[in-house]
Amino acid sequence: MREFLQAAEDAARLAGQVLRSWSSRFTVREKSRSNLVTEADLAAQTVIADLLRARFPQHALLGEEDLGHDGHDAEFCWIIDPLDGTTNYVHGFPYYAVSIGLEHQGEMIAGVIFDPVRDELFLASKGGGASLNRRPLRCSEIGSLDQSLVIASLPVGTEATDLAVKRFLTVLPHAQTVQRTGSAAMNLAYLAAGRLEGFWSSSLKPWDMAAGVLLVTEAGGKITRMDGGPFELRRADLLATNGSGVHAELCNLLSSK
Ligand code: IPD
Ligand code: CA
Ligand code: CA
Repeated sequence: MREFLQAAEDAARLAGQVLRSWSSRFTVREKSRSNLVTEADLAAQTVIADLLRARFPQHALLGEEDLGHDGHDAEFCWIIDPLDGTTNYVHGFPYYAVSIGLEHQGEMIAGVIFDPVRDELFLASKGGGASLNRRPLRCSEIGSLDQSLVIASLPVGTEATDLAVKRFLTVLPHAQTVQRTGSAAMNLAYLAAGRLEGFWSSSLKPWDMAAGVLLVTEAGGKITRMDGGPFELRRADLLATNGSGVHAELCNLLSSK
């Protein structure tokens, strides 16, 4: 496990340097409406893939920028988002991260999320706990939604009539505040760090969630589908909370829609 975590950390820090080096000189392309990619996304993914391939030639890779396929039948599969929060990055809004998770026989066993702006390294291993810059992490102990900061992830190109908007509005009057931030990986890392109480989405890809779901569970949080059923990484249906009564409150509200 130690060599996996070290590789993930080394790759994430290298990618962070790449993101910093590209800031203010990248060009932006729309993959689809409002779904952005820059040279920084691609260059960061390249350094991650090169490092992981060199250290673990037998392992599969799955990354957002056309890297690998599903990877679910591989014994080991690295699941990579070289830049989660590209729209924020493009605007200089400092809330984005590198996310790298390792799946072993269908189960997440290691995860690293690196915020190059604040130099915060979130790290987790299955059964080994979660940490932030080497200090152990726990989710918050807030037990009710009306005392909670929660975050909704709305898909790129969301329409006013979408279910995701209805869910957002449904939770709004029940929580202390509901935010939308633009980086699922950061949201999950911050949930593990006790900086928020809940996060949900019906539109994420495996690379948005892989490292983050392990961080949350290792920090004492809870991960399910929005209806409370078992979470699956390759299905876009996530409810992540600090594991308190907030989970049931959100489940009830989100699955009533
Ligand atoms: C996006 C972020 C965002 C989520 C989008 C993702 P990207 O990832 O995680 O929070 O709402 O659905 O696509 O494109 O910045 O890597
Ligand atoms: Ca992403
Ligand atoms: Ca990305």
